[in-house]
Amino acid sequence: MPIGKEFRNPVFARSPIFAYIPAEDRYLFAPGEERYRFNVIGAGVNGQEHIRVTGMEGRAVIHGVYDPNPLSIMGAQGMHAQFRPGGQKLVVYDSLEAACNDPAVDGLIIATPNFSHLDVVRVAAASGKHILLEKPMATTVCDAHAIMRLAEAHPAVFQIGLQYRYKPIYVEAIHEALERKTIGDVKTITILEHRFPFLDKVKQWNKFSKYSGGTLVEKCCHYFDLMNLFAQTRPVSVYATGSAAVNFLDFEYGGEKSDIIDNAFVIVKYANGVSASFNLCMFSPMFYEEMVLCGDDGRLKVSENEDFLPGGQPDTYMEVKCGDRKPTRTGSPCYPAFIQSSGHHGATYFEHVSFIDNIEGKQTASATAAEGFWSIVVGAAAEQSVRTGQPVLIDELLRENGLEL
Ligand SMILES: NC(=O)c1ccc[n+]([C@@H]2O[C@H](COP(=O)([O-])OP(=O)(O)OC[C@H]3O[C@@H](n4cnc5c(N)ncnc54)[C@H](O)[C@@H]3O)[C@@H](O)[C@H]2O)c1
Repeated sequence: MPIGKEFRNPVFARSPIFAYIPAEDRYLFAPGEERYRFNVIGAGVNGQEHIRVTGMEGRAVIHGVYDPNPLSIMGAQGMHAQFRPGGQKLVVYDSLEAACNDPAVDGLIIATPNFSHLDVVRVAAASGKHILLEKPMATTVCDAHAIMRLAEAHPAVFQIGLQYRYKPIYVEAIHEALERKTIGDVKTITILEHRFPFLDKVKQWNKFSKYSGGTLVEKCCHYFDLMNLFAQTRPVSVYATGSAAVNFLDFEYGGEKSDIIDNAFVIVKYANGVSASFNLCMFSPMFYEEMVLCGDDGRLKVSENEDFLPGGQPDTYMEVKCGDRKPTRTGSPCYPAFIQSSGHHGATYFEHVSFIDNIEGKQTASATAAEGFWSIVVGAAAEQSVRTGQPVLIDELLRENGLEL
């Protein structure tokens, strides 16, 4: 790549370090054209991450926000100002309808609590604008199905925020396992996440299953999306155990006790015979995730670790081992540090690259509403299995929800 093109990066172009360079003197740091305007609906920690990566990506600008919490609006304004010092201020809307129907805006980024997604999407979809809807797309199979139907009828882009696919470890795993087929046909999938408890949220919605969908829907839809992706077919049965062992045992909000689990083991069987397992522990002093794929021609393992310890260990790892048949490889997949630090190891940044590429009609690997739906199906089945102690057959679960797919 020629050096000039390489350095014409929107992140450098908008860096406050180079803010002193007059517009007419910019070459490498000339900002690209801001072709699209997006509104953010829900400006908490995730909405603000979307504002940050929109500013970094550079082809779009955040036009305005809608959020009933004044502190979230202030946070959004502060984040926006970092990328547009002295520039146009965020429009603050006083209703969802106003934010969704502003003719100045091309796209809507929905980052409200999970239980509100269907109601927000109904208003957003009526606008006909491009939509990036955060995961989990809904808290129940029925609501997820309703959103999938709205997405199918939507005349513009409708993307789901299952952006772990863009973490460097999974980008490389997808390339090795699904594109290069280095390990042959994938037979088993093992995924693990060990991490800190759920963080504080506005009105603590993530401590209650009725608002979040339950831990295995809220957080783990990311991993079930990856599982479904690597299995490359539909899940047929799910069995899970889990409990609330450590976190939020005495937590109450508005007079209600938290009812979410903090650990689980989930087994998923797929239609093509692929077996998968997922282990969650949310009382670990780290953010650690790992995936192992075993194929008939090798084994692939990736991991990502953030334990805040000194010592400079690589925070990602990948190994592809093929015995005496093919070369074996180990490494540390990564993006440039400034992209990784923008959130979720750079995955949100590349999710935005894909969102805008989708708007421009390019082919991307972003999550569709159907993929979002199937991630909810596995998560909801796992939640049901934990509650009942019984395996859940996916066909039965769909029938119970009045769905024949
Ligand atoms: N893709 C990811 O990796 C990822 C990471 C974090 C959160 N999320 C998702 O993003 C969404 C928001 O999560 P968060 O962590 O930012 O929560 P949060 O509590 O930090 O922020 C939610 C914001 O939405 C606002 N809000 C509530 N109801 C609203 C409504 N009807 N209209 C507009 N705004 C409303 C709240 O005031 C708050 O500011 C959730 O769906 C969550 O699962 C995704």
